[in-house]
Amino acid sequence: MSASCRYTYEEYRETADWLFAKTEVKPKIAIICGSGLGGLADLLENKTNISYKDIPKFPQSTVQGHAGQLVFGELNGKQCVCMQGRFHFYEGYDIATVTYPVRVFFLLGVETLIVTNAAGGLNSNFNVGDIMLIKDHINMPGFAGQNPLCGRNEDRFGVRFPCMSDAYDKDLAHLARETAEEQGCASFLQEGVYCMLAGPTFETIAECRMLQKLGADAVGMSTVPEVVVARHCGLRVFGLSLITNKVVTDYESKERANHEEVLETTRMRTQHLQQLVRRLVEKM
Ligand code: 6GU
Repeated sequence: MSASCRYTYEEYRETADWLFAKTEVKPKIAIICGSGLGGLADLLENKTNISYKDIPKFPQSTVQGHAGQLVFGELNGKQCVCMQGRFHFYEGYDIATVTYPVRVFFLLGVETLIVTNAAGGLNSNFNVGDIMLIKDHINMPGFAGQNPLCGRNEDRFGVRFPCMSDAYDKDLAHLARETAEEQGCASFLQEGVYCMLAGPTFETIAECRMLQKLGADAVGMSTVPEVVVARHCGLRVFGLSLITNKVVTDYESKERANHEEVLETTRMRTQHLQQLVRRLVEKM
Protein backbone atom coordinates (compact mmCIF):
# COMPACT_ATOMS: atom_id res chain seq x y z
CA MET A 1 0.00 0.00 0.00
CA SER A 2 1.27 3.50 -0.83
CA ALA A 3 2.30 5.56 2.16
CA SER A 4 -0.36 8.25 1.90
CA CYS A 5 -3.20 5.69 1.58
CA ARG A 6 -2.11 3.69 4.61
CA TYR A 7 -4.58 5.59 6.79
CA THR A 8 -7.81 7.35 5.88
CA TYR A 9 -8.62 10.92 6.84
CA GLU A 10 -11.28 9.49 9.15
CA GLU A 11 -8.69 7.47 11.08
CA TYR A 12 -6.57 10.55 11.85
CA ARG A 13 -9.82 12.33 12.75
CA GLU A 14 -10.85 9.53 15.11
CA THR A 15 -7.54 9.79 16.99
CA ALA A 16 -7.76 13.59 17.15
CA ASP A 17 -11.37 13.56 18.38
CA TRP A 18 -10.52 10.99 21.05
CA LEU A 19 -7.63 13.19 22.26
CA PHE A 20 -9.84 16.30 22.19
CA ALA A 21 -12.11 14.64 24.73
CA LYS A 22 -9.20 13.70 27.02
CA THR A 23 -7.71 17.12 27.70
CA GLU A 24 -8.64 20.76 28.08
CA VAL A 25 -5.36 21.73 26.45
CA LYS A 26 -5.68 23.14 22.93
CA PRO A 27 -2.09 22.98 21.73
CA LYS A 28 -0.80 25.36 19.06
CA ILE A 29 2.70 23.88 19.36
CA ALA A 30 3.76 20.24 19.07
CA ILE A 31 7.21 19.11 20.14
CA ILE A 32 8.75 15.80 19.06
CA CYS A 33 11.40 14.86 21.61
CA GLY A 34 14.36 12.92 20.23
CA SER A 35 16.24 10.06 21.92
CA GLY A 36 17.07 11.05 25.50
CA LEU A 37 15.48 14.48 25.03
CA GLY A 38 12.09 13.58 26.47
CA GLY A 39 12.85 15.47 29.69
CA LEU A 40 11.40 18.54 28.00
CA ALA A 41 7.92 17.09 28.39
CA ASP A 42 8.43 16.85 32.15
CA LEU A 43 8.72 20.66 32.30
CA LEU A 44 5.12 21.13 31.21
CA GLU A 45 2.59 22.39 33.75
CA ASN A 46 -0.98 21.22 34.23
CA LYS A 47 -0.03 18.04 32.44
CA THR A 48 -2.18 15.33 30.92
CA ASN A 49 -0.09 12.26 30.06
CA ILE A 50 -1.59 9.79 27.62
CA SER A 51 0.22 6.56 26.84
CA TYR A 52 0.45 5.69 23.15
CA LYS A 53 -1.02 2.28 23.85
CA ASP A 54 -4.27 3.88 25.02
CA ILE A 55 -4.74 6.12 21.98
CA PRO A 56 -6.96 4.72 19.20
CA LYS A 57 -5.02 4.01 15.98
CA PHE A 58 -1.77 5.32 17.47
CA PRO A 59 1.46 3.33 16.84
CA GLN A 60 3.51 1.94 19.77
CA SER A 61 7.11 2.79 20.67
CA THR A 62 9.77 0.07 21.03
CA VAL A 63 13.19 1.72 21.41
CA GLN A 64 14.91 2.17 24.78
CA GLY A 65 14.98 5.71 26.21
CA HIS A 66 11.58 6.46 24.70
CA ALA A 67 8.68 6.63 27.13
CA GLY A 68 5.91 6.34 24.59
CA GLN A 69 3.40 8.96 25.61
CA LEU A 70 1.83 12.24 24.59
CA VAL A 71 2.13 14.96 27.19
CA PHE A 72 -0.34 17.86 26.92
CA GLY A 73 0.23 20.94 29.05
CA GLU A 74 1.69 24.43 29.30
CA LEU A 75 5.31 25.32 28.69
CA ASN A 76 5.95 28.82 30.04
CA GLY A 77 2.31 29.65 29.50
CA LYS A 78 2.02 28.23 25.96
CA GLN A 79 -0.28 25.27 25.32
CA CYS A 80 1.78 22.41 23.92
CA VAL A 81 1.71 18.73 23.17
CA CYS A 82 4.96 16.75 23.45
CA MET A 83 5.73 13.37 21.96
CA GLN A 84 7.86 11.60 24.50
CA GLY A 85 9.25 8.92 22.19
CA ARG A 86 8.96 9.00 18.40
CA PHE A 87 8.53 6.27 15.82
CA HIS A 88 11.56 5.39 13.72
CA PHE A 89 11.57 3.81 10.30
CA TYR A 90 14.35 1.43 11.44
CA GLU A 91 12.03 -0.04 14.07
CA GLY A 92 10.01 -1.49 11.20
CA TYR A 93 7.17 1.04 11.02
CA ASP A 94 6.22 2.03 7.52
CA ILE A 95 6.85 5.65 6.66
CA ALA A 96 3.14 6.58 6.97
CA THR A 97 3.06 5.23 10.52
CA VAL A 98 6.20 7.18 11.46
CA THR A 99 4.37 10.38 10.52
CA TYR A 100 0.90 9.45 11.84
CA PRO A 101 1.09 11.74 14.89
CA VAL A 102 1.90 14.83 12.81
CA ARG A 103 -1.45 14.75 10.99
CA VAL A 104 -3.20 14.16 14.28
CA PHE A 105 -1.48 17.28 15.66
CA PHE A 106 -2.65 19.24 12.62
CA LEU A 107 -6.24 18.13 13.25
CA LEU A 108 -5.85 19.15 16.91
CA GLY A 109 -5.16 22.71 15.74
CA VAL A 110 -1.37 22.68 16.07
CA GLU A 111 0.31 25.38 13.95
CA THR A 112 4.00 24.87 14.76
CA LEU A 113 6.05 21.69 14.95
CA ILE A 114 9.31 21.61 16.89
CA VAL A 115 11.54 18.61 16.21
CA THR A 116 14.64 17.53 18.10
CA ASN A 117 17.03 14.68 17.45
CA ALA A 118 20.45 13.25 18.20
CA ALA A 119 22.75 13.30 15.19
CA GLY A 120 26.27 12.50 14.09
CA GLY A 121 28.44 15.48 13.16
CA LEU A 122 29.71 15.44 9.56
CA ASN A 123 30.90 19.07 9.48
CA SER A 124 34.52 19.13 10.67
CA ASN A 125 33.90 22.44 12.48
CA PHE A 126 31.31 20.83 14.74
CA ASN A 127 32.13 19.55 18.23
CA VAL A 128 30.44 16.85 20.25
CA GLY A 129 27.75 18.59 22.31
CA ASP A 130 27.03 21.30 19.75
CA ILE A 131 23.39 22.15 19.06
CA MET A 132 22.63 22.56 15.35
CA LEU A 133 19.73 24.63 14.06
CA ILE A 134 18.39 22.62 11.14
CA LYS A 135 18.25 24.98 8.17
CA ASP A 136 17.51 22.33 5.54
CA HIS A 137 17.45 18.58 5.05
CA ILE A 138 18.35 15.80 2.64
CA ASN A 139 15.64 13.17 2.45
CA MET A 140 17.72 10.13 1.55
CA PRO A 141 14.91 7.59 2.13
CA GLY A 142 12.79 9.82 -0.11
CA PHE A 143 15.32 9.25 -2.91
CA ALA A 144 14.73 5.54 -2.40
CA GLY A 145 10.94 5.79 -2.71
CA GLN A 146 10.21 6.15 1.02
CA ASN A 147 8.45 9.52 1.01
CA PRO A 148 5.41 9.61 3.32
CA LEU A 149 3.44 11.52 0.67
CA CYS A 150 3.77 8.82 -2.03
CA GLY A 151 0.34 7.57 -3.09
CA ARG A 152 -3.01 9.27 -3.62
CA ASN A 153 -2.99 12.81 -2.23
CA GLU A 154 -5.38 13.74 0.59
CA ASP A 155 -6.32 17.31 -0.37
CA ARG A 156 -7.71 18.00 3.12
CA PHE A 157 -4.11 17.85 4.37
CA GLY A 158 -2.31 19.59 1.53
CA VAL A 159 -1.37 19.88 -2.13
CA ARG A 160 -0.04 17.13 -4.40
CA PHE A 161 3.38 18.72 -4.88
CA PRO A 162 4.35 20.58 -1.72
CA CYS A 163 7.28 23.01 -1.76
CA MET A 164 10.21 22.03 0.47
CA SER A 165 12.60 24.91 -0.24
CA ASP A 166 11.20 26.80 2.76
CA ALA A 167 10.72 23.82 5.08
CA TYR A 168 12.43 25.32 8.12
CA ASP A 169 11.01 28.60 9.37
CA LYS A 170 13.54 31.44 9.16
CA ASP A 171 11.85 33.62 11.79
CA LEU A 172 11.90 30.84 14.38
CA ALA A 173 15.56 30.11 13.62
CA HIS A 174 16.33 33.80 14.10
CA LEU A 175 14.45 33.81 17.41
CA ALA A 176 16.37 30.70 18.49
CA ARG A 177 19.75 32.30 17.73
CA GLU A 178 18.70 35.34 19.77
CA THR A 179 17.57 33.09 22.60
CA ALA A 180 20.79 31.06 22.55
CA GLU A 181 22.72 34.32 22.76
CA GLU A 182 20.78 35.36 25.89
CA GLN A 183 21.25 31.97 27.49
CA GLY A 184 24.97 31.72 26.90
CA CYS A 185 24.56 28.83 24.44
CA ALA A 186 25.80 30.74 21.40
CA SER A 187 29.33 29.31 21.65
CA PHE A 188 28.02 25.83 20.84
CA LEU A 189 25.14 26.74 18.56
CA GLN A 190 25.66 25.72 14.94
CA GLU A 191 23.50 25.75 11.84
CA GLY A 192 23.37 23.24 9.04
CA VAL A 193 21.84 20.58 6.84
CA TYR A 194 20.47 17.39 8.39
CA CYS A 195 20.58 14.22 6.32
CA MET A 196 18.31 11.33 7.18
CA LEU A 197 19.34 7.74 6.53
CA ALA A 198 17.01 4.85 7.28
CA GLY A 199 19.38 3.16 9.77
CA PRO A 200 19.73 1.19 12.00
CA THR A 201 23.35 0.80 10.89
CA PHE A 202 25.64 3.73 11.49
CA GLU A 203 27.48 4.93 8.39
CA THR A 204 30.55 3.42 6.77
CA ILE A 205 33.54 5.66 6.26
CA ALA A 206 32.79 5.85 2.52
CA GLU A 207 29.16 6.82 3.26
CA CYS A 208 30.28 9.58 5.64
CA ARG A 209 32.62 10.98 3.02
CA MET A 210 29.83 10.86 0.46
CA LEU A 211 27.42 12.71 2.77
CA GLN A 212 30.02 15.42 3.44
CA LYS A 213 30.47 15.91 -0.30
CA LEU A 214 26.70 16.18 -0.69
CA GLY A 215 26.61 19.13 1.70
CA ALA A 216 25.22 17.47 4.81
CA ASP A 217 26.42 18.75 8.20
CA ALA A 218 24.73 16.16 10.42
CA VAL A 219 23.35 12.67 9.92
CA GLY A 220 20.61 10.84 11.75
CA MET A 221 17.77 8.35 11.46
CA SER A 222 14.66 10.46 12.03
CA THR A 223 12.85 13.80 11.71
CA VAL A 224 12.68 14.25 7.92
CA PRO A 225 9.46 12.24 7.33
CA GLU A 226 7.71 14.20 10.09
CA VAL A 227 8.89 17.49 8.63
CA VAL A 228 7.69 16.54 5.13
CA VAL A 229 4.22 15.69 6.43
CA ALA A 230 4.13 18.81 8.61
CA ARG A 231 4.99 21.07 5.68
CA HIS A 232 2.41 19.31 3.53
CA CYS A 233 -0.33 20.35 5.95
CA GLY A 234 1.10 23.85 6.41
CA LEU A 235 2.70 23.62 9.85
CA ARG A 236 5.61 25.91 10.64
CA VAL A 237 8.69 23.85 11.44
CA PHE A 238 11.63 24.44 13.73
CA GLY A 239 14.33 21.79 14.25
CA LEU A 240 17.37 21.19 16.45
CA SER A 241 19.98 18.44 16.23
CA LEU A 242 22.17 17.63 19.17
CA ILE A 243 25.58 16.58 17.81
CA THR A 244 26.22 13.54 19.97
CA ASN A 245 29.30 12.20 18.21
CA LYS A 246 31.57 12.92 15.28
CA VAL A 247 31.34 10.52 12.36
CA VAL A 248 34.39 8.49 11.41
CA THR A 249 35.91 9.57 8.09
CA ASP A 250 39.40 8.21 8.44
CA TYR A 251 40.46 4.57 7.85
CA GLU A 252 43.23 4.95 10.46
CA SER A 253 40.78 6.00 13.20
CA LYS A 254 40.12 3.69 16.14
CA GLU A 255 36.82 5.50 16.91
CA ARG A 256 33.56 3.66 16.30
CA ALA A 257 30.05 5.16 16.31
CA ASN A 258 28.03 3.69 19.16
CA HIS A 259 24.73 4.26 20.92
CA GLU A 260 26.36 4.70 24.37
CA GLU A 261 28.27 7.79 23.25
CA VAL A 262 25.06 9.18 21.76
CA LEU A 263 23.24 8.75 25.09
CA GLU A 264 26.14 10.14 27.13
CA THR A 265 26.33 13.38 25.11
CA THR A 266 22.57 13.67 25.27
CA ARG A 267 22.73 13.59 29.07
CA MET A 268 25.45 16.25 29.05
CA ARG A 269 23.49 18.75 26.94
CA THR A 270 19.85 17.87 27.57
CA GLN A 271 19.40 20.72 30.08
CA HIS A 272 20.71 23.33 27.64
CA LEU A 273 18.51 22.02 24.88
CA GLN A 274 15.46 22.00 27.14
CA GLN A 275 16.03 25.58 28.30
CA LEU A 276 16.55 26.76 24.73
CA VAL A 277 13.30 25.22 23.52
CA ARG A 278 11.44 26.36 26.61
CA ARG A 279 12.45 29.99 26.20
CA LEU A 280 11.86 29.86 22.46
CA VAL A 281 8.33 28.60 23.01
CA GLU A 282 7.72 31.38 25.52
CA LYS A 283 8.75 33.98 22.93
CA MET A 284 6.68 32.52 20.10
CL1 6GU B 1 26.91 8.95 13.58
N1 6GU B 1 24.67 8.38 12.44
C1 6GU B 1 23.37 8.26 12.39
N2 6GU B 1 22.84 7.76 11.26
N3 6GU B 1 22.54 8.61 13.39
C2 6GU B 1 23.09 9.10 14.48
C3 6GU B 1 24.45 9.24 14.62
C4 6GU B 1 25.24 8.85 13.54
N4 6GU B 1 24.69 9.77 15.84
C5 6GU B 1 23.52 9.93 16.43
N5 6GU B 1 22.54 9.53 15.63
